Amino acid sequence: MTRISVKVDGDSFTDEVEPRMLLVHYLRERLGKVGTVVGCDTSNCGACTVHLDGVSVKSCNMLAVQADGHDVTTIEGIARNGQLHPVQQAFHDNHALQCGYCTPGMVMQSIDVLRANPNPSEEEIRVGLEGNLCRCTGYQNIVKAVRQAAGGTNLSPVGASQGSEQA
Ligand code: FES
Ligand code: FES
Repeated sequence: MTRISVKVDGDSFTDEVEPRMLLVHYLRERLGKVGTVVGCDTSNCGACTVHLDGVSVKSCNMLAVQADGHDVTTIEGIARNGQLHPVQQAFHDNHALQCGYCTPGMVMQSIDVLRANPNPSEEEIRVGLEGNLCRCTGYQNIVKAVRQAAGGTNLSPVGASQGSEQA
């Protein structure tokens, strides 16, 4: 067992964990942060996306021990004073979810996309979300939501040359 100290959604935790324990399992099973979900366990779907020191990571793709000394933010830590995060609100406003399974990861990745580029083109949004899979929505409303969160004034229409609706 290895002792780790992490800050998660603003709270500090110190725990003994097996060195092989994945971060997503630590968050869900030890801390009860079940808003972060597992879709594939093979780093393909992005459902498990959280922020490590403010940058998105797939929490099934790293070990809990690698988060030692770091600051983790999950979907459960982004609302403030009972108010949804602007990206959460934009997903709500634009019906950017159906079953909702991908949504925690999509929201966390969208925040990271906007952090890195507050004024992304539609193509940049799609590229930024390409590591997050959604089996329900066709991505269109997800892109609209990110557009709204970005201010809604910065996106060119979808070009015919872009072809696929896949993010
Ligand atoms: S559960 Fe982590 S990428 Fe799918
Ligand atoms: S809303 Fe169902 S997988 Fe995205």
